[in-house]
Amino acid sequence: MKTFEFQIPTRVIFGAGSLNQLGEAAKEIGTKTLVISDVVMRKMGYLDRVCDQLRGVGIGVVVDDHVMPNPIASYIDDMVRLFQDEECDSLVGLGGGSAMDAAKAVGLVAKNGGVMVDYMPGGSRADMENILPAYPVVAVTTTAGTGSEVTKFAVITNPETREKPGIGHESLFAKLAIVDPELTLTLSKRVTETTGVDVLFHGMEAYLSKPATPFTDLLAIEAIELVMKYLGTVIEEPQNLHARTRISYANTIAGVAIVQATTVAIHGLGQAIGGATNAAHGLTMAAIGPAFLDFSYDANIRKYAKVTRLLGYEVDGLSEEEQAARSGDALRHVLKQFDSHVTLTDLGVTEELIPELVDSAYKTMQGCIDASLKEVSREDAMQIYRVSL
Ligand SMILES: [Fe+2]
Repeated sequence: MKTFEFQIPTRVIFGAGSLNQLGEAAKEIGTKTLVISDVVMRKMGYLDRVCDQLRGVGIGVVVDDHVMPNPIASYIDDMVRLFQDEECDSLVGLGGGSAMDAAKAVGLVAKNGGVMVDYMPGGSRADMENILPAYPVVAVTTTAGTGSEVTKFAVITNPETREKPGIGHESLFAKLAIVDPELTLTLSKRVTETTGVDVLFHGMEAYLSKPATPFTDLLAIEAIELVMKYLGTVIEEPQNLHARTRISYANTIAGVAIVQATTVAIHGLGQAIGGATNAAHGLTMAAIGPAFLDFSYDANIRKYAKVTRLLGYEVDGLSEEEQAARSGDALRHVLKQFDSHVTLTDLGVTEELIPELVDSAYKTMQGCIDASLKEVSREDAMQIYRVSL
C-alpha cells in the first residue's frame, strides 16, 4: 500500500438541525463576524437564523447579502474593506460555494494584505509563500455541491482575464463547518441537479487521480454510490430529508477526498469554461467529462472499469478493458438521467474560444490537469474541448 497522510482540520457538525448548534460552536471563533451571503438566504430566513445564533452567544454581526454566483475579485476587495472598517475578526459564509469561497478569500486577503488578484495566478503573491493563517471562517453550506465547507480551496473569478482559478492553501480551510441537510430542502430542481453532478465529479475525479490514496478511494467510491442511489430521488422528491441527508453526506466526504486527491483535468478544463462563460460549475464539468473519460480510460483499466460499474452501466459479458472503454458512455447516460447532458455549444463556447480556454486552464489549473492519470498535453486539451462542442 502506498504511503500517504491525511488531515482534516475543519470541525464538521453534520446532520438535520445542526444549524441550531452554530452559536455555541462559533463562540470560540471570534467576537465580531462578517456574514457573507445572498438575498435568497435572507428570503429563506436562513440569514436571520444564523445572525440570531451568533448574537445569542454575544458575537457582533455585520452582514453582506450580495455575493454573486462565481464571485469576482473586486467583490472580495470590497468585503475586505468592510471587514477592516467594521473591525471584524472572523467570517461566516452562508450559502453555496460562492458564499463560502468568498468568506475564505476575504479572511485570507484581510489578514495578509494587498488585493485579491495578488493571490491569483500571475499575481505578486500567487506562490502563496509566507502566508499568515487567515481569519477564521465558519462555513454553513446550503447546497450539496462544491464541498467547500471542508476543502482548502476557494474559486474566485477575475473578470478582466476571464480566469476562474481554484486557489488552494492550508489557510483556506474553514475552522468550523455546519452541514445541515434541512437547508437543502428548498433548493431548486436545477441547483439540485447541477450541484449533485458536481459531487459526482468530485468523487469520480478523486478516484481517478494520481494523488489518490486508499483513504480517498474509500470516500470517493462511497460518494459516487450515494449520488447514484439518491440524486434521482432528491430531484423528484425535493422534500425527502432522508435522501437529502445522503446527498449532503456524499458532498462532504467527496470534499474531504479532493483535499488529498485533488480533482483532475475535468475540473482543470471545466473551470476555464466557467471563467469565460459564467456557466454553472457542475455543467462545465458535464460538458467535457465524457470526452475526458474517452480520452483517458486506458491510463488505468481497473479504475476506469470500476467507474463504469459504479455509474450503473450494464457490463454483462464485457471484459475489464471494454468496461473501462465505456466509462465515457456510462457518464453520458448518467448525465442525461440528471438532465445535465450538455455540450460546450449549449454553454456558449465557440470553436474560436478554445485556444483561450486552453491557455486559461494551463495558467490557472495546471495542478489539476497534471493530477490526471493520463498525461494531458495542450493539444489533447484542445481536442477534448473540440469534441465536446
Ligand atoms: Fe467542483
